[in-house]
Amino acid sequence: MDIKQIFENNKTWVKQKLNLDPDFFRNLSKGQNPEILYIGCSDSRVTAEELMGGAPGDIFVHRNIANMVPNTDLSSMSVIDYAVTHLKVKHVVVCGHYYCGGVKAAMESADLGILNPWLRNVRDVYRLHQDELNKIEDEEQRYKRLVELNVQEQCANVIKTAAVQKATKDRDITVHGWVWDIRSGKLIDLNIDFRKELEHIMEIYHLY
Ligand code: CO
Repeated sequence: MDIKQIFENNKTWVKQKLNLDPDFFRNLSKGQNPEILYIGCSDSRVTAEELMGGAPGDIFVHRNIANMVPNTDLSSMSVIDYAVTHLKVKHVVVCGHYYCGGVKAAMESADLGILNPWLRNVRDVYRLHQDELNKIEDEEQRYKRLVELNVQEQCANVIKTAAVQKATKDRDITVHGWVWDIRSGKLIDLNIDFRKELEHIMEIYHLY
């Protein structure tokens, strides 16, 4: 992508939007009321809005390497708190993707400096599910399974937050675990049973 082209692209995009709706940006400036918080990977191939068909204002987005929700990460914790407590989103989506470089790096032995503590969170997911993962002989299948298990664990981390636990007492909110398959372009729902998961996690992590 040519960096000089970006402002030209933007002009074209503004024109297109205004052609369809002259009040488009004026309405956007009034505020946001998204129903979905999306937590995904920073990977340039995994666009949040585009793959979901979302328009500006539809989705509150947080992206980081390997779509993680570490409990000491001020950024993801603030995003979750703001989206759940203030924007009152109805759905929190953790979306991983196959062929995730962050997940791959956590399966290899390499000193990646500042990335080490971040990727250790993925290694912890591996350790939690070591028995299952070690049984998978095909490396690509094991890699794909770790992507799925990582999404599952990050969904659990979302449920461990006070903001989400409090919201479940007051209103309807659901946490979803998805994986995007780069090779087919298809979104896969891991069908995590949110209520069951919540009940299980609350045994230990209940704050309310
Ligand atoms: Co990734």
